[in-house]
Amino acid sequence: MLHKWEEILQSPTPKKWLDKAVNSLEILLIDHAHCEKKAATTAISLIHRYPDKDLVNQLSPLAREELLHFEQVLTVIKKEGYKYRNIRPGAYAKTLYEASSNQEPQRLKDTLIICALIEARSCERFHALIPFLPPSLNKFYAKLHAAEARHCDLYLDIYTEIFNEDYTERLNDLSAIESSYINNKDKIFRFHSGY
Ligand SMILES: [Fe+2]
Ligand SMILES: [Fe+2]
Repeated sequence: MLHKWEEILQSPTPKKWLDKAVNSLEILLIDHAHCEKKAATTAISLIHRYPDKDLVNQLSPLAREELLHFEQVLTVIKKEGYKYRNIRPGAYAKTLYEASSNQEPQRLKDTLIICALIEARSCERFHALIPFLPPSLNKFYAKLHAAEARHCDLYLDIYTEIFNEDYTERLNDLSAIESSYINNKDKIFRFHSGY
């Protein structure tokens, strides 16, 4: 059986991105740390934005787990001899959110789908990177792979619980945008960039 993350992505990470990633370990790790922090922030802002939707039980543990991932990546960055710093974010998430509706309830629906897609791509990239990473890193990425797969399911489950309707059509549209982004040349290399 296919996992949801495999089902919802329309194409695998291009080999060109993977080639860049193995030669850009410092940026990969630093941007990865930012992604984990951002994942926690997004979960918290959803709890804040929709107090009536009872998201706390599902999204507060998720936010805590993402912060733990953030701390773990920081430890890896230090161990590898790199220094954590702020870097310009890529346009991946922005591109997806620009396609999102700004009217409720569609805005929440789109956000949940976008969160699931971002988790799915993280999951797919961790998996794709494992054979190319130094042994010190691949166990860690295998563990994260499993966690992000769970998060992808969780966002789609929340959608179904709240709206009780099929999301496939809208998911396909947003997933096509996602797929087109990662299959194009990008100005900068990031965890979720094009190549
Ligand atoms: Fe994470
Ligand atoms: Fe996650």
